[in-house]
Amino acid sequence: MRLFLDTANIEEIREAASWGVVNGITTNPTLVAQAKHRDLKSAIMEIVALVPGHVSVEVTALEPEGMLLEAREYARWSNQVVVKLPATAAGLQALTQLGQEDIAVNMTLCFSANQAILAAIAGAAYISPFVGRLDDVGHDGMALVAEIVGIYRTYQFRTQVLAASLRHPLHVIAAAKAGAQVATMPFRVLQQMIQHPLTDVGQERFLKDWRTLHS
Ligand code: E4P
Repeated sequence: MRLFLDTANIEEIREAASWGVVNGITTNPTLVAQAKHRDLKSAIMEIVALVPGHVSVEVTALEPEGMLLEAREYARWSNQVVVKLPATAAGLQALTQLGQEDIAVNMTLCFSANQAILAAIAGAAYISPFVGRLDDVGHDGMALVAEIVGIYRTYQFRTQVLAASLRHPLHVIAAAKAGAQVATMPFRVLQQMIQHPLTDVGQERFLKDWRTLHS
């Protein structure tokens, strides 16, 4: 399993990367706007220098022709860049064409197993089921992740399942148990993963006992 950070915030990425556990990054237009990156290319160039793996960059065009123009531009920036396309008919058309140009695609905004099947047949490198957003509307987001993993295993699709829209550490554990190849999360969730009150209490007690030797 690989962990990605779901952010365009350079400081967060720098800090998380220094822990040595973050393989790649997912961005989207909201995250880029939140980080106030007016120059997308220079932001992405900074990001790819901080992590060893894939960095997803999302198109904003709604039609296949516009998606292809953006995708080709992003792919020129770095071979770590993976183009994010929405799970729509236009996205599928663009994905099919990009496959012929050897440009890797992360099919995003996936909310159903049908969308995941189509993305795999069309040759996506990643499928991104949005767990938290499904949970928000009363559906079981993680059940979708498990369903997609099962279908992909049955047919030996090479598309990797990237569990997205994760909101808390239990989501990460559930994604791991479901067999997702990648989990992408906000920096806050990565920080929560390493925290445990008993670790803090234990560390404090060890230090206190150690100091009794020297007092
Ligand atoms: C995935 O790649 C998306 O950027 C992201 O996980 C969306 O998460 P959200 O639903 O918390 O916005």
